[in-house]
Amino acid sequence: MLEVLRHIVVFIHLVGFAVLFGAWVVEAVARRIRVTRLMNIGLAIAGVAGLALAAPWGIEYDLNYVKIGVKLVVLLAIGALLGIGAARQRRTGSLPPAMFWLIGILTLLNAAIAVIWR
Ligand code: HEM
Repeated sequence: MLEVLRHIVVFIHLVGFAVLFGAWVVEAVARRIRVTRLMNIGLAIAGVAGLALAAPWGIEYDLNYVKIGVKLVVLLAIGALLGIGAARQRRTGSLPPAMFWLIGILTLLNAAIAVIWR
């Protein structure tokens, strides 16, 4: 029962990742160097679900807390870039490209850490 609930939370976590990364890809492909509200929404969904998954319930194995800690730091870095980026583009009308690319790279990095690091 608890296992099923955990899998549902993992699913929500993945939806958050899909919304964040999808929103970023849409802008990248359209050559619009900017952050959007949808990226914040995706990050919030992935973050809340991730924190719920960071507690050991509904599993038989031990969690890798080093890995989870690294993912949390990366998530906070993405959040900082989204926040500072939104303020910048509001004030100056544009976003430094390096900040835009970092958001996508760090998002992919967290997915790679989740899947590859055991
Ligand atoms: C942009 C941010 C994030 C992305 C893209 C992301 C991506 C993913 C992906 C693709 C998975 C599924 C792979 C698997 O099941 O092994 C996963 C699982 C997981 N994530 Fe994240 N994640 C993010 C943030 C976080 C944060 C902030 C935390 C915790 C503080 C977290 C905790 C976890 C945990 C504990 C699992 C494993 C679930 C389980 O096996 O029961 N994630 N994440």
